[in-house]
Amino acid sequence: MAMDIKPSVLSFLVVLLFLLFAQSSNATNKIVEVNKICNRTIHPSFCSKILNSKPGGTNRVDLVTLVNYTIGVVRSNVTNTIHLIKSLIRNSTNSDAKDHYELCLKHFDYDEGALGEVEYAEKMLKAKDYQGVNVAASGVMATVDGCVFGDSPSDPVFPDHSSLPKYAEYVKQVADIICAICNYLTGIYK
Ligand SMILES: *[C@@H]1O[C@H](CO)[C@@H](O)[C@H](O)[C@H]1NC(C)=O
Ligand SMILES: *[C@@H]1O[C@H](CO)[C@@H](O)[C@H](O)[C@H]1NC(C)=O
Ligand SMILES: *[C@@H]1O[C@H](CO)[C@@H](O)[C@H](O)[C@H]1NC(C)=O
Ligand SMILES: *[C@@H]1O[C@H](CO)[C@@H](O)[C@H](O)[C@H]1NC(C)=O
Repeated sequence: MAMDIKPSVLSFLVVLLFLLFAQSSNATNKIVEVNKICNRTIHPSFCSKILNSKPGGTNRVDLVTLVNYTIGVVRSNVTNTIHLIKSLIRNSTNSDAKDHYELCLKHFDYDEGALGEVEYAEKMLKAKDYQGVNVAASGVMATVDGCVFGDSPSDPVFPDHSSLPKYAEYVKQVADIICAICNYLTGIYK
């Protein structure tokens, strides 16, 4: 009887060890230095400032923790931007400005806007689909551009003298950091 059980116990252990090894060697707990990540972004010094503001520091912090933190930052920045846009809409005295800010609200709000993309990024992160997180972060950058520059290249750019373009640029740069981290997670960057 015991002779029959032993091989199956052994093969169970082999499979278990294999799974543990696979787990420890996959992307999930990969660590990449902040400088190396930020070197892959459009504005490396902005990127270092954001990542180094993570409470508890970034020393030996794995990529998943880092991207999770950065998604939290972009969520808070998108939320701030939505508050700003709503205030700009309330204060608008001419219809061109009002139209522009209403278009921007669509680009930032939940339905097909940046906030929806952020929620999609969170969902993809939970599912460990880092390519999906990358797609969502790229979506944030694209939809923010639609607010600032209009939906098509032929649209005239609204001369916006409010803080909105600055907020929008900030959101884009944080989303760019998420893309860089995801490219390390998926192995596109080594
Ligand atoms: C940053 O990237 C450039 C080229 O893209 C490379 O020459 C340089 O060594 C990199 N620096 C670091 C710290 O990785
Ligand atoms: C991301 O951070 C939140 C708290 O900010 C935590 O609840 C969640 O479990 C984290 N997710 C991952 C995948 O680390
Ligand atoms: C973006 O979010 C971070 C984290 O909440 C915050 O420290 C920063 O001031 C925000 N920046 C803007 C422009 O909203
Ligand atoms: C809108 O007007 C109020 C009242 O004048 C002012 O406090 C607020 O800062 C204005 N909002 C923006 C975004 O300019």
